[in-house]
Amino acid sequence: MRLKNKVAIITGAASGIGKEIALVFAKEGAKVAIADLDLNQANLVVQEIQSMGRQAMPVVMNVIDEQQVQEGVDAVAKKFGGIDVLVSNAGIQIISPLEGLSYADWKKLLAIHLDGAFLTTRACLQYMYPAGKGGSIIYMGSVHSKEASVLKGPYVTAKHGLIGLCEVVAKEGAAHGVRANVICPGFVRTPLVEKQIPEQAKALNISNEEVIKKIMLKDTVDGEFTTTDDIAQVALFFASFASNALTGQSLIASHGWFME
Ligand SMILES: NC(=O)c1ccc[n+]([C@@H]2O[C@H](COP(=O)([O-])OP(=O)(O)OC[C@H]3O[C@@H](n4cnc5c(N)ncnc54)[C@H](O)[C@@H]3O)[C@@H](O)[C@H]2O)c1
Repeated sequence: MRLKNKVAIITGAASGIGKEIALVFAKEGAKVAIADLDLNQANLVVQEIQSMGRQAMPVVMNVIDEQQVQEGVDAVAKKFGGIDVLVSNAGIQIISPLEGLSYADWKKLLAIHLDGAFLTTRACLQYMYPAGKGGSIIYMGSVHSKEASVLKGPYVTAKHGLIGLCEVVAKEGAAHGVRANVICPGFVRTPLVEKQIPEQAKALNISNEEVIKKIMLKDTVDGEFTTTDDIAQVALFFASFASNALTGQSLIASHGWFME
């Protein structure tokens, strides 16, 4: 087991990519905190993990609520005895051209992705540094951390910003053995993507099938979606990598949509 007795907090773990990471980490022996807005869904994931004979706890957390983040991280450290891994994964998407985007929506998206990453990082570092056991912080970026698409102004901005935050954490955390890396997935068929297919179709005046073929998978090498398990395996690799050799990096898993 590659994460035996490690404690991992995963935000946005009640659904999609975060949920799969939680299941894979638990299989590998981690004690997992399912942090999400949605307590009912979080509890279902906790039950699934407990039925595998592994440990998990739900944490009600809006990642942009400073007090909830601090209290949530405190509760996990108290119950499981410290924090070894943070996966800052909670996120939303808003489809709109810039000229029609409200200031409120711009700020909402940036806050969930960037303020949420900062607040959870800060709270976890406060446990990782004094414990002296190192740690791994993983940010859920996107191919949109590397390139732009129309209709996704705040998302592309936020996902690029996560690379900057990751690199600072890598530099500041090095002396404490705390590593930081970014995962950059291509399109994965989670609720976040299912919702945007008809939204993009409407905005671009094309069919749902055309959104999938001509936008989402157009530049992949094989016309395939990336899967939640693909991304969970990358997260496991980053979480279990044992030295500062692998820090400040971003890894793209997108069926070749973006190559660098
Ligand atoms: N699905 C994709 O194609 C794709 C591609 C690249 C990156 N991503 C990123 O992966 C991450 C997870 O996305 P997903 O596709 O699994 O989406 P999802 O909608 O299935 O899951 C997102 C989860 O985040 C939670 N969440 C939303 N706002 C929150 C908040 N303020 N506080 C706490 N939790 C909150 C939701 O309740 C939900 O459980 C996001 O950061 C997303 O940008 C997704």
